[in-house]
Amino acid sequence: MAQGRLSFYCSAQEDWCQLMARSFEESSGIRVDMTRKSSGETYAQVKAEESNPRGDIWWGGTGDPHLQAAEEGLTEEYISPMRDQLHPWAIAQAESAGNRTIGIYSGALGFGFNRDLLASNNLPEPACWEDLTKPEFKGHVQMANPNSSGTAYTALATMVQLFGEEAGFDYMKRLHANVNQYTKSGSAPIKAAGQGETTVGIVFLHDAVATAVAGFPVSIVAPCEGTGYEIGSMSIIKGARNMDQAKAFYDWALSAEAQSLALQVNAFQVMSNMAAESSDLAPNMDLIKLIDYDFVKYGSSEERRRLLEKWDNDVSRLPQ
Ligand code: G6P
Repeated sequence: MAQGRLSFYCSAQEDWCQLMARSFEESSGIRVDMTRKSSGETYAQVKAEESNPRGDIWWGGTGDPHLQAAEEGLTEEYISPMRDQLHPWAIAQAESAGNRTIGIYSGALGFGFNRDLLASNNLPEPACWEDLTKPEFKGHVQMANPNSSGTAYTALATMVQLFGEEAGFDYMKRLHANVNQYTKSGSAPIKAAGQGETTVGIVFLHDAVATAVAGFPVSIVAPCEGTGYEIGSMSIIKGARNMDQAKAFYDWALSAEAQSLALQVNAFQVMSNMAAESSDLAPNMDLIKLIDYDFVKYGSSEERRRLLEKWDNDVSRLPQ
């Protein structure tokens, strides 16, 4: 059995992170120390630790910050022997980043709403992104902060791609007027909707499905205008102290067996290994109007930094 330890930075949901850590420990004998933080926060941590890396592997979270880390040389090139088992979109993600990251799952953005709250507030059923900016939704919409959360950055980049930059930012401003809170983590808004703390949560559809499957009165919407999606990614941190263990985790995490663990924690993403199990409950990507999300552009350092700064200055400071 392999020896040693692994410092595991995880940006997927907490229960999935824990299951991955525990299962890898069991199958490899390598001791895992797991830290869960949102995608943008983990990127910032990896960047801050550049001269003295504390993490070995970064698994999960949206692809854009992984791509930014790749471009900035914060992550290590690696070609796994598992690669030929993956969907082309997962490999394309790697190839666009000099093999410093790779796709592990995919999922579409949208929103979910609490049916009981919608009814008690006499609100019409929202079906489109535009609906969320109607005056009657004031205070009813929650999303994460795009600086910390990859989900919310995906939302910002989606609006820019869907409507064009000017109209996309105009949309974000009108949405801001209706937002009751910007959370740190991307999936928090739908958990809050489940608990009746907000009517609508802008999240990945698979997170909304997970909340519905857990028994909360949540309905899922793939917005009528079309929507963006993520390629959840994995990267080895440059200068990792436990490089062999990081590569062992990387290979294992691309296996059908490891990826099928997702279903144990109701993680309904489309997994990148073509043989991984999927669930009938997972959102059907073929039925969702997806934009041709430009990962290279919106995952580039310059563009991600520019859009976040613009959102900070032009949107987040507006009165609500
Ligand atoms: C949830 C989703 C993942 C996504 C992640 C991003 O866990 O299930 O598909 O990659 O959020 O998290 P963040 O907090 O960065 O938005």
